[in-house]
Amino acid sequence: SIYDSSLRPQLHFSPATGFMNDPNGLVYANGKWHLFYQYNPAELAAGNQHWGHATLSNGTTILMFSGSAVVDRNNTSGFFNNTSNAEENIVLMFTEHTDYVEQQSLAYTTDGGKTFTKYSGNPVIDIGSTQFRDPKVFWHPETEKWIMVAAHSQDYQIGIFGSKDLKSWDELSRVTRVGYLGYQYECPGLAQVPVEGSDEKRWVLTYSINPGSPLGGSIMEYFVGDFNGTHFVADDAATRFVDTGKDFYAGQMFDNTGDEVIGITWASNWEYTNDVPADHFRSAMTVPRRYKLRSVPVNPMFNDTLLVQEFVNTSAVHDKELFNSPINYSSSMNGAPIAVPTAGAFEFTAEVFVNTTTGLKSNDWAVIDFYSNDTFKSEKLSLGFRPNDGMLYVRRADAQKSWYNPLFTGSSNSFISIPSANSTTKFHGIVDRGVFELLINDGQQSITNTYFLE
Ligand code: FRU
Repeated sequence: SIYDSSLRPQLHFSPATGFMNDPNGLVYANGKWHLFYQYNPAELAAGNQHWGHATLSNGTTILMFSGSAVVDRNNTSGFFNNTSNAEENIVLMFTEHTDYVEQQSLAYTTDGGKTFTKYSGNPVIDIGSTQFRDPKVFWHPETEKWIMVAAHSQDYQIGIFGSKDLKSWDELSRVTRVGYLGYQYECPGLAQVPVEGSDEKRWVLTYSINPGSPLGGSIMEYFVGDFNGTHFVADDAATRFVDTGKDFYAGQMFDNTGDEVIGITWASNWEYTNDVPADHFRSAMTVPRRYKLRSVPVNPMFNDTLLVQEFVNTSAVHDKELFNSPINYSSSMNGAPIAVPTAGAFEFTAEVFVNTTTGLKSNDWAVIDFYSNDTFKSEKLSLGFRPNDGMLYVRRADAQKSWYNPLFTGSSNSFISIPSANSTTKFHGIVDRGVFELLINDGQQSITNTYFLE
């Protein structure tokens, strides 16, 4: 980092970049020591003088951890006196984290989101816990309340809270130890999701666990059930994952998109996120995905209600649609290598059609290889499907540049439905310089993996 250079004092204050001279405005206010200073942000010499500003806290630093936002159209919070821009009455609820506590606090904007003011009455919830975070708030019209879910992380509980004004909250219930546990629960969500092909909606509770995913590190789970305004009850105790790739964590859904439920998820994994190859940034989000519920036979004996997904508005990558043709599966079928263009960003669809006459052999794979631009095509990202038994892999072991980390799993394997004779298995994917998102059979399954092609 810029703080590691041999010219950088480690104990003395220096500006991150630019030129500094005189200390200015030394003042102590409410637990903070303020140091202003003469500063030229643009050059490494005096001129163009500004005031720089640094603060040091007495005691512990408050970090701003995850949370959510709502539009407070009816000014339930009293933060807004001007009703003309009620559609932009955004209130944030987030976790303030210190070494000693995790508490929930608010901030609001009166200029449409340009600047935010922290509420003077913060925190609005402090239960004296160091493991209580990630509030997700939404309006619940039936009870005319704000409902908030937050993780009692290491108790493996999701707290459900209610409030009339976003400031004063009651805990209404807790969802306790459902699903896969791992080390802790983080980033819960609760939303009403439309059931495909009907007017019905069901409630879906989501949360993420880290570390301790069966795949290693971070993963996101969901539960379909009922919410009566105070309690959430899941249909059953089974664990279902939103995405079975390695890089899909802490997903959140927009709470106010009418009949649509759209979510965005962090495409990374705490196992290795701080270590992956990087130039000027680390981590990307998934594209927005639209969520629905679909009842499908997952094996001959059982119909399951699955959270299904589709990509929303991927038009930005539509200039190069590389691949969109049915693969007619036969016993000789073994790969259809495709070169990734220089841009390296595209969306594709592929269909594997299994016919009756060919017969299925256990060692036949339908394979798509996404090569990089290197001359020898030694690096590639691969997708393989074996219709005989429904096995699927997304392999990135040869897509890691020269970087190596044993936790950066080389291949994500999955079971998808075994295709019946004369049926089609559908793939819809986005390959985008480092993020591979794959939806299978109209979003019934999803695999998101990062990769690093030379
Ligand atoms: C999830 C998480 C949250 C926390 C935030 C801190 O990835 O650990 O629980 O609020 O990240 O950045």
